[in-house]
Order: sequence, then C-alpha cells, then structure tokens
Amino acid sequence: MLPNKTALDLIKKYIDIFKEGNNIDEFKKELINNLLNSSGVLVKTDDGTYTLVSEDEDELMHSRIGALTESVEKFAIPSNLKNMGNPKILDLCSGMGYNAIAALHFNKNCEIDMVEYSEETLFLSLCLDIPYKEHELIKEVIKDYFLNKRSNNKKIENKDIKNNKINLYVGDARKIVKKLDKKYNIVFHDAFSPQRDAVLYTVDFLKEIYKKMDDDAVLISYSSSIPFRSALVEVGFILSEGAPVGRKRGITIAYKNPSSDRDLKRISEVDERLIALSTVGVPYRDSNLDLDHDTIIMNREVEREKLKEELSKIDRYYSTKKVKLGKIDEKFLNIQKLNLNSSEIIMRMKEELRN
Ligand SMILES: C[S@@+](CC[C@H](N)C(=O)[O-])C[C@H]1O[C@@H](n2cnc3c(N)ncnc32)[C@H](O)[C@@H]1O
Repeated sequence: MLPNKTALDLIKKYIDIFKEGNNIDEFKKELINNLLNSSGVLVKTDDGTYTLVSEDEDELMHSRIGALTESVEKFAIPSNLKNMGNPKILDLCSGMGYNAIAALHFNKNCEIDMVEYSEETLFLSLCLDIPYKEHELIKEVIKDYFLNKRSNNKKIENKDIKNNKINLYVGDARKIVKKLDKKYNIVFHDAFSPQRDAVLYTVDFLKEIYKKMDDDAVLISYSSSIPFRSALVEVGFILSEGAPVGRKRGITIAYKNPSSDRDLKRISEVDERLIALSTVGVPYRDSNLDLDHDTIIMNREVEREKLKEELSKIDRYYSTKKVKLGKIDEKFLNIQKLNLNSSEIIMRMKEELRN
C-alpha cells in the first residue's frame, strides 16, 4: 500500500518542475497548501509535523500524536542507538525520513540505509520543515537522488557530521533487502499496518531481514499484530515489547540473539497463547517475495482452516475465545509460569500442542 494517490499525483507534478531546474523554495509553500487545502491529504499532527493520508483513507502514515514524536518515541529511543558507537541502521519504509532524522538527532554517527518505494513521499520531505537540523542531511541525500548526481547505491559521506553515511534505495523493500550486502545493528520496520498491507510482515520477508542483522541486533516495529509477532518467532527472533506510544498495545522489539543485559519484557500472556495455540497465530507467507496483499491474506485463511482441521482431528483445537480466557489444558498455563522469554514460551507451547 502506498500513500494517497491524489497526493502522489500532485507531488509528481512538482517533481517535474524541480527537474526542470526550479528551486524548491519557489514552490514548496504552494505544494504544501495544495496538499493541505485542495485535497486534504496532508495532515498536521499534534506536534506540528506533517504526515500523509494513505491509500486507505482511514490510515495515516503516522499517528496523530506527531510524526516526529512517533519516530523519537517508537523508534529512536527504544533502539538505544544513543548509546552505540556508530550504529548501522536499516530504515525500512523511510517515507519522509522522520525515523532517519530522529536517529541522526540522537546519534550523529549513525550509518543509515533508507529504503522507500514511493519517490513522491521522499520528495515531499524536501518541501517540509522538520524541526531537527538533521533534516538538512536527509534532504541533501534525497535531493541528490532526484538530481541523479550520485548513483542510487553509492555511499554519501557528509562533511558536517563526521562518519555519517546515508544511502537511499528506492523500490520494493522485498527486492532491495535481498540484495543488501551488509549487517545491521538496528532495523526500523515502519510499514503500513499488516491489516491493510501484509507484504512486509511475512515470514519470508522477515527471514531476509534476519539474515542481514548482526548477532545482537534489534528490529523495531510499532505493530503488535499477532500474525506478525508469530512470524517473528517462526523466523527465530526473540520477542519483547516496548511501552505503548499513542495506542493501547506496546510496540514490538525483536532481537536476533540478545546479550544478557537486554531487558526482554514479555508480551502479554494472552498474546503468547494466541500465537502458540490458536489459528489467529498463523503468520503471513510469501515464499517468492512477490505476492500482493489480498493473495497473502487469502492464503493465510486457507492455512488457518487446514490447521483447524488438523488440530480438531487430534482433539487439540481451541477456539480463540477459550485461548484468550485461558480455558485450556493446565500444562500450557504451567509453561507460561516458567522464567523464559516470550519466544521460548511460545515454542514450548507449540511443541506441547502437537505432543
Ligand atoms: C507508515 S509509512 C512510513 C513513514 C516513514 N517511516 C517516515 O518516517 O515518514 C509507510 C511507508 O512505506 C512505504 N512502502 C509501502 N510499501 C513498500 C514496499 N514494498 N517497499 C518499500 N516501501 C514501501 C510507503 O510508501 C510509505 O512511505
């Protein structure tokens, strides 16, 4: 799923104007006003920064608490990048670059690989005034992309910020991540919600990300969706949860192989049970990394039905309601009392389900 089409079409016209050699300062106000007033597809969030409406008008690119606030509180701070030497960050779904800007704000030595499908969304960043000076760096990278001064995959050394390297990759993250030849310490996973666009939440895509992560690396997503968390466990991630920001459920923090000093806050016991024991826990799949959202959802429904049949045959099928209420065999509840992390508990319960 992409940002709203009316917005993208409008921005496209200004990309052409820019490519003809016109200065952004001459037209940026006009573009912002057009987006705000004429079509209402640009929204001012509570911290004064702007976000776009998505193709599905019920979903914004950021939550209303603030586009920049969200990047700081859901991505930059929980990643602990402030206390790292020069963290290598994979910034998936970079959009207007808020997450990359927030990362640089907290640690000027970050190396960031930005990945974004929509050129228009990146271009919009050039016309915004995001109140962190690091926005200028991101603007420079985006501007260079549009002016084709530097090749798409080339490292950009910035003179103002020592050691800082930012790369921008434009295209489908599923294709790009496969080709990246690097290991990251941090992955910002900031796709649209899996309910509306599951393509970046599949077991198969997460596997590709996992391969590109350093041993102690962390993946952060605002999404707490059950099939997404289930996919993370299937791939081998160690699940934990961060504080909720602007919504009820906590963000997802997943590690590859966390060091002992990591604070692995367990997800809720209900979520652990749903992932392990109910068909709600069936993850999204996309083995060739080329399916569209509707096909992924349809295939998952088929897999859920199959699982229900299989478990019913061995008398182990529990309805979602029973799983939520804990009206299940005592042995599963006892596993949840063990001093283990959520992924270990989920895997033990899954094994037990088939025993
Ligand atoms: C929730 S927004 C991310 C906001 C962004 N992190 C920011 O700071 O502005 C999701 C973004 O994912 C992009 N996107 C959607 N599908 C994609 C794909 N397959 N590959 C890469 N980017 C994608 C959209 O164009 C959109 O900009």
